[in-house]
Amino acid sequence: MYRDPVQSLEPLPSRSAAPRALRVGMIGIGTVGAGTFRVLARNQADIAGRAGRPIELVMVAARNLERAARIVGGTVPVTDDPLRVATHPDVDVVVEVAGGTGPARDWVLAAIAHGKHVVTANKALLAVHGAEIFAAARQHGVAVAYEGAVAVSIPIVKALREGLTANRIEWVAGIINGTTNFILSKMEDEGLDFAAALAEAQALGYAEADPAFDIEGIDAAHKLTLLAANAFGTSVRLADVQVEGITSLQRTDVACAAQLGFRIKLLGVARRREEGVELRVQPALVPVSHLMAHVNGSMNGIMVKGDAAGVTMYYGAGAGSEQTASAVIADLVDVARLDGTHAAQRVPHLGFHAHAMSALPVLPRAATCSSHYLRVPVHAAGDVEAISAWLVRQQVPVRHVTLAAAAQPGSGPQVLVLTQPVQQGTMDLALHALQAHPSVAGKVTALRVEELA
Ligand code: HSE
Repeated sequence: MYRDPVQSLEPLPSRSAAPRALRVGMIGIGTVGAGTFRVLARNQADIAGRAGRPIELVMVAARNLERAARIVGGTVPVTDDPLRVATHPDVDVVVEVAGGTGPARDWVLAAIAHGKHVVTANKALLAVHGAEIFAAARQHGVAVAYEGAVAVSIPIVKALREGLTANRIEWVAGIINGTTNFILSKMEDEGLDFAAALAEAQALGYAEADPAFDIEGIDAAHKLTLLAANAFGTSVRLADVQVEGITSLQRTDVACAAQLGFRIKLLGVARRREEGVELRVQPALVPVSHLMAHVNGSMNGIMVKGDAAGVTMYYGAGAGSEQTASAVIADLVDVARLDGTHAAQRVPHLGFHAHAMSALPVLPRAATCSSHYLRVPVHAAGDVEAISAWLVRQQVPVRHVTLAAAAQPGSGPQVLVLTQPVQQGTMDLALHALQAHPSVAGKVTALRVEELA
């Protein structure tokens, strides 16, 4: 007999006992931990309603006990022994927000071995030790959730894992480091040089403890490994990502890109090709008309192309105390819901369940493909045509060629080239030979161009 599905939504039978709280042990109570404590306390009732049961912080481990005690105000016991939290029988889930990759690995593996779920915002830990950590989690039937590790306020892991789960993902690309986006925006909008823009980003607290992680692209690469694992089932391995930061980016190129109608952004790109997946973090030209070119300041923006949904875009803060707490607590709610279900019945936090893994190989640099921007210092303005014709003979398809409108003081004419998509192997050979071309008067600069369509 047909039953109207809406009419048939009857209330669940009431239970006599109140559902048991999910008991959380937190390791680290710095900026993110303190934010998590505050948001959990402030939105307690709503969070419990959504989780189906209370989420209760039962123990905190911190290096600075006095500071930790001040934050929790005597409501939660504090210890200076993270392993005690990781292994304590009264803890159901361990939130690791201490950072670092050495001791944090031991705490997380100890928690997993003791049958505890783990929620972490530690992208470096997962990018370096993820394979080992996720294997251990599979073995012990627990979840390792990491929404707070990628573009914190943007629920991109959930979007890939749940909202877009019907799609064959074609590519994921994004501005996933706020510090470098802040620096590039300052260089473009205010003409600041790199060092001054970095100093400002550090003063505002966007940068990692070691800002080399930001400006060398490593932080973005950490996040890209997690996005790619989710989208394509690739293994979480930092070493697989081609990484290039923005330290050698010249202000001239920011100006020349603007002349051609582009902005330069540090992009993390994970793109499916027939033979595998490209994983790269690089400064790239984005058309100024594209939404991604308007993700400015310290903000993050991520686009995903799925075969069914098409292109979707996500925008939000990529760092911050409560912004990260928002993601950490979302994972706790998820864990509260899935705790007790068999691991094989959960939507996996990596792209696929181990048994269904259709892991794609990661392509080597030479096999990756994209359009390029070249800036070629030449002896004479008349060399434009010669450079263009020469590139075509080297199998580099030229889309547009012109002279830079404003060269640096003291430098000669500069030829600007935009190519059609070309394999990186072909491009690298051509660039090497171009450097020795008799018309070339200085170092050739090459950057990728991403159309993101
Ligand atoms: N340093 C990082 C950034 C913080 O600038 O995006 C969040 O991972």
